[in-house]
Amino acid sequence: MPMHLLLAMLRNPATTGALLPSSRALATAMARAAEGADTVIELGAGTGSVTGALLGMLPGVPLICVEWQPALAARLRHRYPQADVRHASAKQVVDELGDLPGRVVVVSSLPFRSLPVPVASETAHSLCRFLTRGRERKLVQFTYQPREPFPAPRQLCWRRTSVVWRNAPPAGIWELRLGGPN
Ligand SMILES: C[S@@+](CC[C@H](N)C(=O)[O-])C[C@H]1O[C@@H](n2cnc3c(N)ncnc32)[C@H](O)[C@@H]1O
Repeated sequence: MPMHLLLAMLRNPATTGALLPSSRALATAMARAAEGADTVIELGAGTGSVTGALLGMLPGVPLICVEWQPALAARLRHRYPQADVRHASAKQVVDELGDLPGRVVVVSSLPFRSLPVPVASETAHSLCRFLTRGRERKLVQFTYQPREPFPAPRQLCWRRTSVVWRNAPPAGIWELRLGGPN
């Protein structure tokens, strides 16, 4: 499986953003952060490490997986027939979510710091618009940087919830949601 991300990295380094799939420890931590969700949207599912953890830890919870690279999307569909795999851009799928009811958790492996600037900013903008429409929505995002994954408007609040040391490199897990009293 590492070979697939390596090939994707050679073809699209800025979009792929990692040489190695997320470790089991990182995938487990991301899935744990989505516990309690009614629907999970996974962005940048890649080789499916986080997908596997989500399906294992949240059985029966509808999962939409989004992957922009066609070969990776096709592999995900084959490997995880129980997930709704979309070969699409994250922005396109987030914009189509509209008023999805209940607790919606967006779990993202998107490499915001290496994506082309217009893609990163339009995707971040769509995510923020989606999150500001309800308190039951949150984004879970990992990053290798010591700071917030991307800037967000003032009504949304970033919080770093953990650091996964058993990942190469170590990754911080951040959550973004509406701020203020619940
Ligand atoms: C860090 S890699 C995948 C990490 C994944 N957890 C794994 O273990 O394979 C990020 C993934 O995001 C995908 N990606 C990047 N930009 C995207 C976008 N705008 N929409 C959907 N997927 C995107 C890349 O193709 C890549 O597979």
